[in-house]
Parts: sequence; C-alpha cells; structure tokens
Amino acid sequence: MASIDRGFTGDKDPIVKKVYEIYGSIIEYRNPVRSPDLMLKILRDEYRLLVKPYIVYLTIAAFINNRPVLYEGPPGTGKTEIGEAILTLWSGKTAFILPCSENYDEYRVIGDFHPAMAMSKGFNEESFIPRPLLAALILDTGVLIDEIRRSNEDFQNMLLDIIDKRRIIIPELKKVYRQRGNGFQIIFTSNPWDIAQSDLSDAFLRRVIRIRFRYPSREEEWEILKLRLEGLIERIPEELVGRALEIVRVLRDKAVYKPGTADLVSWMTITALLAENKGLGKATWRELYDAALSTLIKNQEDEDLVEEVLSKYRY
Ligand SMILES: Nc1ncnc2c1ncn2[C@@H]1O[C@H](COP(=O)(O)OP(=O)(O)OP(=O)(O)O)[C@@H](O)[C@H]1O
Ligand SMILES: [Mg+2]
Repeated sequence: MASIDRGFTGDKDPIVKKVYEIYGSIIEYRNPVRSPDLMLKILRDEYRLLVKPYIVYLTIAAFINNRPVLYEGPPGTGKTEIGEAILTLWSGKTAFILPCSENYDEYRVIGDFHPAMAMSKGFNEESFIPRPLLAALILDTGVLIDEIRRSNEDFQNMLLDIIDKRRIIIPELKKVYRQRGNGFQIIFTSNPWDIAQSDLSDAFLRRVIRIRFRYPSREEEWEILKLRLEGLIERIPEELVGRALEIVRVLRDKAVYKPGTADLVSWMTITALLAENKGLGKATWRELYDAALSTLIKNQEDEDLVEEVLSKYRY
C-alpha cells in the first residue's frame, strides 16, 4: 500500500506556501488506496456508497493512464458523491469540488489578483490568490469538476490544455506549476439529459474516459436504502419499501422529473422520521404518502402524475 504523502517539504515558492496556508487546513490525509477491491469495500463500509465494480475498475485504469474521467448519467445516481470519494481514496487527500456555472473562467479556478493589492503592489506573487485547481495541482490531490456541461466552451478548452500537459501557466507571474505526483486526477460529471446544457466538444470527449452511470437494480437500491438509512429503515415495513421501489420506477419512466436514488433515499428518510415524530413504531401509508408529495414533486407538470401513481399503489 502506498504511504501517506503530506507533500510540503519546505518549498520556498511563495505561491506553494500560500496554497498550504489557505487550503492546508481543509485537507485530510489518509493512506492512498490503489486496489479496486479494497476501494469498493471502503466506499461501502466508510462512505456508505454501493458502487458498481465496473465504475471503480475503469476509473482506476484511467488514473493509472493519467487520463480524466467523465461520469455521465441520470440525476441522483451518486456521480458527485462517488467521484469525490474515489478521488479522495486514490490520492489519500481530500478532493476538491468545482461546481461549474456558465461564467466560470480561469480566474475562478486557477487564481486571480487581489484588486486593491494589485493596484498598490503590482501583479505579483503577493497580490495573487491561488484558487482550487491550482491548489489541487500543487497539493497533488484530485478535483471533481461537477456538471461540466454547464460551463462554457472556452473554459472547457482551458481545462483540456491543463489536463493534456499536466501543468498550469500563470503568465503574469512568469511561472509554471507541474503535476508532482499521481494524486492530481480529474473526474468530470455530467447529466446529458438536462435541458439547456451545452454539448461537449469532440476534442473534449476524445480525451476523457467516459463512464456511464445507470439506475441501480431493485435489489441494489434496497441495499443502498439500508446503507443510508441505517437503523431508521426499521421504521418502514418492508412491504412499503417494496411499493416505494416500484413507484420510483414508474416515475422514472413517465415523469418529467425522474426521481434518482438520492430522491428515493430522501423519501424514505422523511417517511421514517415522520413515523418517529408521531411516535409510531412503524410508518404507514399516510407517512409514505405525505413524504412522497414533499420529496418527489419538483415541478407542476408532475403533480397530477405523482398523485395518480401513488393512488395506484394504495391498497
Ligand atoms: N450508489 C449509491 N450508493 C449510496 N447512495 C447513493 C448511491 N447513489 C445515489 N445515492 C444517494 O444519492 C446521494 C448522492 O447523489 P449525488 O448528488 O452524488 O448524485 P448525482 O448523480 O451527482 O446527482 P445530480 O445529477 O443531481 O448531481 C447520496 O447521498 C445517497 O443518498
Ligand atoms: Mg451531482
């Protein structure tokens, strides 16, 4: 097993020092995990994530090859949480998350200059503020670039250049920072069915290893509920859980907002807590129904459909 790498060994570079000052305290260290089987076990036991083995095998293969990974799939299937956990275990350090938006640019992710300080002291190392992507490269930890389709094409091209060459140039400082170890790995996430999201360029798709996420099977989803709810699952009769699993499947087929595993987990959690709050030993259809209306309807179009589907399962 690889050993813990705390990275900073008295580097004199002021930007490196700044990165450790700013980000050092949020990084937690652990032994890097390189075995897929051990990773699957830790994901389950520690992170309470039931991850399909092919996801871990492919991701690790990509990392060994120093290639970025793209997780694509429906909402609420664990892309963000699983990606963050895998990156953290791989590098042995807390991963960084960059949630994309349309106006993301290099200043938001690499670094920018403090305006007042730059005015008085110039565009130099003193006025430079390192941002997460540069920090991750210097700290040699992973980066999860969330919802990449929400970013603009210039931003995606800038990332490709960094990923290809494994280095970040800061022209104002005449500095180049290079990848130091193999902890600096990148996972993108994307939900290709989300409306109003841009297409990813061929150049982008050529470079990434694309991994498809799918809804878990009924058995896997039941397993996930037990992992996430822990003791609370005892509050819901198995027969009701069974109905809930059927209901989300119908809604995934018919509804505009398709409930993911994340929605199922929150539906069941609220159901169990409603029962607990009311002092009931076990939840009844009433709690399941009330919790459904509050967790499964995300837009007006689905309101009637959700009620209709629920009524079919009330017996
Ligand atoms: N395989 C899984 N194992 C355990 N929990 C899961 C799994 N998949 C989804 N979940 C549940 O969903 C939550 C994480 O969903 P997450 O936000 O990572 O999904 P996502 O695919 O990134 O969704 P979105 O597309 O909406 O961003 C977890 O907190 C957990 O409740
Ligand atoms: Mg996500």
